[in-house]
Amino acid sequence: MISWILILIITFTRFTTCKNGYGFKSPPMGWNPYNAFTFAFNETIIKNQADIIVTGGYLKVGYRYINLDDSWQAPNRTADGTLSYNTDKFPSGIKALSEYIHGKGLLFGIYSDAGTETCGGLPGSLDHEEIDAKTFVEWGVDYLKYDNCYNKNRPEQERYQKMGKALKDATKGTDKTIFYSICEWGQSNPWLWGPDVGNSWRTSVDINGFWTSILSIIDSQVRLTQYGGPGGWNDPDMLAVGFDVIPPIEQITHYAFWAAMKAPLILGCDLNKVNDASKALILNKDIISVNQDPLGLSICQVYYKTYNETSFDIWTGPLIDGYVASLYQKLYTLLTNY
Ligand code: GLA
Repeated sequence: MISWILILIITFTRFTTCKNGYGFKSPPMGWNPYNAFTFAFNETIIKNQADIIVTGGYLKVGYRYINLDDSWQAPNRTADGTLSYNTDKFPSGIKALSEYIHGKGLLFGIYSDAGTETCGGLPGSLDHEEIDAKTFVEWGVDYLKYDNCYNKNRPEQERYQKMGKALKDATKGTDKTIFYSICEWGQSNPWLWGPDVGNSWRTSVDINGFWTSILSIIDSQVRLTQYGGPGGWNDPDMLAVGFDVIPPIEQITHYAFWAAMKAPLILGCDLNKVNDASKALILNKDIISVNQDPLGLSICQVYYKTYNETSFDIWTGPLIDGYVASLYQKLYTLLTNY
C-alpha cells in the first residue's frame, strides 16, 4: 500500500522570490467565521474561537490569523466618512477586539469589499480605499480579505490595485505588514496580476462543503497550480473541514489537497464542535509541513484517467527536500486502498 499523502523521492532546491516585496513566505493559516456562522457572529463568538485556537493547540501548529468576514460593519459610515462597526455585535469596538487577539499572540484580520457595498449590503471600500486602509492600520489589522460585490463593473485590476497601494501607503513607516487577500473569485485571471498586487487571490467560487463543490474546485485548479508561490498564493477558498456532516474521507481529501496546493489554510468551522478525528486532521503536522514547505510550490496534476464512470487523478509536486504526491479517486473518494 502506498502511503496516500507523502512519497519522498528526490532532493529539490529551488527558491522563488516574493514579487510584492512583502515576504509572506508560506500560506497564511487561521480561522474565519463565514463557513460556520455566515453573518451571525459577534465579539463573544470571535473571542471564544480565538481562545480555542490557543488552548486547543491550533496556534502551536501555525493557525494564527483570526479574521472577521462580512457583517462586522455598521450600516453607515460616520459623518466624516470613516468606516465603523456594528455596536450591537461589537460593543467593545474593533480596536479592543484586535488588542484582545494580539494579546493572545495571534494576528487579526478584517473583511471589506472592492465595491460600493459588501455582499451582505454593508458599506464597501470602493473609492474609500485610503481612509479605510488608515482605519485598518489604526485598528491593528494584519490581514484584509477584499471581496468583489457591487463593483459597478469597474475593472478588477484597477480596484484591487487601489486598495493594495492604500495599504502600502498606510503602513509606510510602521512595522506592520498587512496580508492582502484578493477575493474576486477568479473572475479576471487574478493569478496573472495578483502577485504584483496582493498576497493571495481567490481562484474559485465559494466552497459549500458538499463533495461536488470540493471536487469541482480541485478540478478548476488543474490549470492554475503553476501560479502560486512564496509571497502570493492561489486561494481556492476557506476550508470546509471540521463539520460533522462532511464524511471523514472527504475532509481528509479536501484538507490534504488544499495543503499540498499551498492554499491558505483558513479554518471555517465552529471550533467548539470539531470532533476528535477532524481535530487530528487539522492539527496534522506532516500535512501542515507540506503546506508550509519553504519551496512554496503547488502540486500539479500529472495523471488523469476515466473508466467505468470513475476517474483517477495523480498529483505530485516538489518539496524543499523531496516530492509530495496526492492521489484521489473521484466517485468513491477512497484514498487508502492504494
Ligand atoms: C463572498 C465571498 C465569501 C464571503 C461572502 C460574505 O461570497 O466569496 O467568502 O466573504 O462574500 O458576504
